[in-house]
Amino acid sequence: MIYYIIGLLLIAALRLVFYLKRCEYEVRQSSAHEFLVIIFSVYLLGLFIFLKSTVFSYGMEELNLVYFFLPLGFFMPMLFRRFRFLLINLITAAAANLFLCLLQLYICGYTNYANIIFALFGVLIGFILYAIFREFIPGIRNGFLVEKKKKKPLTVTFEAELTIFAIIIMIGAGAAAGNILGKDKQIKVKGEASREPASSYEEIYYAHREHYDRYDEYAAKNPGMKLEDIVWRVEANLDQEFYDEDFTTIADKNTNDPFLINKFNRVSDDFEPKNLVKIEGDYVATPETAKAYSKMLKDMKKEGMTIYVVSSYRSVSYQENLYNFYLRTDPEEKVDTYSARPGYSEHHTGRALDISQVYNNLDVFEGSDEAEWVYKNAYKYGFIVRYTEANMDATGYIFEPWHITYVGQDISQKMHDEEIKNLEEYVVKYMDHTP
Ligand code: DAL
Ligand code: ZN
Repeated sequence: MIYYIIGLLLIAALRLVFYLKRCEYEVRQSSAHEFLVIIFSVYLLGLFIFLKSTVFSYGMEELNLVYFFLPLGFFMPMLFRRFRFLLINLITAAAANLFLCLLQLYICGYTNYANIIFALFGVLIGFILYAIFREFIPGIRNGFLVEKKKKKPLTVTFEAELTIFAIIIMIGAGAAAGNILGKDKQIKVKGEASREPASSYEEIYYAHREHYDRYDEYAAKNPGMKLEDIVWRVEANLDQEFYDEDFTTIADKNTNDPFLINKFNRVSDDFEPKNLVKIEGDYVATPETAKAYSKMLKDMKKEGMTIYVVSSYRSVSYQENLYNFYLRTDPEEKVDTYSARPGYSEHHTGRALDISQVYNNLDVFEGSDEAEWVYKNAYKYGFIVRYTEANMDATGYIFEPWHITYVGQDISQKMHDEEIKNLEEYVVKYMDHTP
């Protein structure tokens, strides 16, 4: 929203400057030209806002670029004298796109230079349409162009370039600021844990003396369980009833990016992560999640597979409606196995995604090639499959092959290398304590 407001103000300011310059130099301006320039500026603004929310968050559908750049090829020659030559249009569009690619490379660490080619295609098609249009409406050649009477004022000469340049700079600055603001999200892995089995709680660095009784009690209920597992499970409160208020933590108390959300760690009712960006369609997620997803999707596509986002960020009130909706058909004990209660869903963090190879259908994901690929490779991009068959008892949810969570590459790599199946275990061993 802020971009639209700033952009519209910028357009208004630019038009005013050009208007005053024209008065000063006594350049007569066709009102049709002014009208079309304003429409065109608004289109440019929309284009760049669209590019900002896609190019800097996830890979752009290349074909879409053709459509989005087509009006550029059509309007530029119609409105601006110098752009009546195709080559100038192509060079300008290529330069603007190259700039966007380099900006994306700087911000996201990857880019796709093929975007330039697709955008140029759009410009080319637009230009061809303009040329046809011009033939049928002869007056257009002069009617919409700036009419000069006196010497050329410099500002009017570079009117089109200035408009594009100003908007690109604005979008670039916005994207860079968003990136800088969202930069502290990569949580670094600390230390190495001993791989030797412990023979007493004292040997376990994440054990707490005041919890020894709870360990003993949990051990009695789970004969044969390794001491290390007993300790991390108790530290994650798994010896308690899920949702027990005495053991529940408000995870967003001191942070806008709560890491661990489960049946003992919830967010406040009004929590919403800052900096949510579009990830696909209308779905939003944190910038890091969107970037990682984009990379993963790109690599899947290279192998001839694709996936869609079926759910991403959810507000607490959205989750409340969802949970209540499920309660209409299933009893609470059953709903609790597949849906988080409001406030307790990982989707509130903007780092959890539900994905499937069929849009809006999670049920077909299990057993698909795509699911297998994700299960094997998601960790390379910073994702974990959060609710697996191996951790149902720790999460309290049934197997959800489609639910992936962005935890950052360092953590997903470490969990993969050490075969840590639970985020709860990771948090106790490497975040709450240092080996
Ligand atoms: N389906 C998962 C557990 C959620 O509701 O967040
Ligand atoms: Zn989910």
